Amino acid sequence: MYLTDTHAHLYSEQFDDDREEMLARAIAAGVQAFFLPNVDKDTIEPMLALEAAHPGVCYAMMGLHPCSVNETYLEELAIVRQWLERRTFCAIGEIGIDLYWDKTHVAAQEAAFLKQVEWALEFDLPVIIHSRESTDHLLGLLAPLRRERLRGIFHCFTGDRRQAEQVIELGFLLGIGGVLTFKNSGLDAVTKQIGLEYLVLETDAPYLAPTPHRGKRNESAYLLRVAEKLAEVKGVSLDTVSQITSQNAGRLFGLQG
Ligand code: NI
Repeated sequence: MYLTDTHAHLYSEQFDDDREEMLARAIAAGVQAFFLPNVDKDTIEPMLALEAAHPGVCYAMMGLHPCSVNETYLEELAIVRQWLERRTFCAIGEIGIDLYWDKTHVAAQEAAFLKQVEWALEFDLPVIIHSRESTDHLLGLLAPLRRERLRGIFHCFTGDRRQAEQVIELGFLLGIGGVLTFKNSGLDAVTKQIGLEYLVLETDAPYLAPTPHRGKRNESAYLLRVAEKLAEVKGVSLDTVSQITSQNAGRLFGLQG
């Protein structure tokens, strides 16, 4: 069995005291690949250092997170662009719109998102999308851009069935994380209706720890809890969940086939 954590901020300073032990626990739990979303210029160095320390295990993305979009976002975007020209990344992310924390910079968030989607098409990379309280907004922005090579993940998907179907229709996958294990999230009823071929697993560590670790620091070893819950919801084996979701991730990030 092997699991793929498609979204984990393992370079976060929250892991500074035990990063290697945390990774060892995840690998012992069956997680064999970790995809690291970038946030902004300050996370690039620790992210690339972690990737360099674990080649073929940790994979870096490049992008500007919507919560880091502010008055200086054009300078941030210029740095993203320089990195995209300098080396290959597995994806552009995480990018998107966040209407939960701060609505001050919505127009700039939208501009930064669209620019980075344009670069994803130029560099033929998937996009990893942060859609907090903005799923319909983002679906509306992406619909006119729909084409064969536009692909990616709606990370930490928590929407309803209609939104799930629209994401799939657009050619994207749904990133399923710890929220699936929360009581009354409703995400179990939605994922039950969606084919496994459209789902990937993620932790979003150090955030969004699954039950029974809810509210505490999340880590990639807990991906197993999400996988077990998904197997229960879908009425399939843990092996089936791990195999299909890892294949989906591998195909999206260009690691196989
Ligand atoms: Ni994230």
